[in-house]
Amino acid sequence: MSKFTYPVITIMMTLFILSACSKNQADEPQPVVPEKPGIQVSYAAVVQPLLQARCAGCHAPGKRAAAAWSFNGYTSVTGSADKIKQAVLVSKTMPIGGTLSAAELQSVKDWFDQGMPQ
Ligand code: HEC
Repeated sequence: MSKFTYPVITIMMTLFILSACSKNQADEPQPVVPEKPGIQVSYAAVVQPLLQARCAGCHAPGKRAAAAWSFNGYTSVTGSADKIKQAVLVSKTMPIGGTLSAAELQSVKDWFDQGMPQ
């Protein structure tokens, strides 16, 4: 083998590894941007933290309004979707003692409209 063989092989391996790395990065999912209405809204990133902050004080298991609706994970929301839509988006009676911002209401509406993705 010539004295150039090893450097050439090394350079080719390096190029191969670099190109493999950059391809993997391009394949990774882009982060969700929940603030923008009309863009994908997920339960985990947007709806769960919102309900936790604005509703769980009264509606978590053992809290004073748990009988009306108990917030306890994804299916507790999807299973009561009609009641929640009515209370939050239509009559706007919830949350008692507070209001959701226009952006929060839009996120909740988008989430229901998008079929309640997890
Ligand atoms: C300060 C306490 C409080 C907060 C905060 C609150 N609720 Fe309620 N909620 C109640 C009480 C009390 C009731 C039962 C009496 C009533 O329906 O007015 C109720 C009832 C409900 C019901 C049942 C309505 C029906 O027709 O059966 C739903 C659904 C609901 N709340 C959703 C929510 C959601 C979603 C949030 C957060 C965005 C929220 N609530 C925040 C106290 C609260």
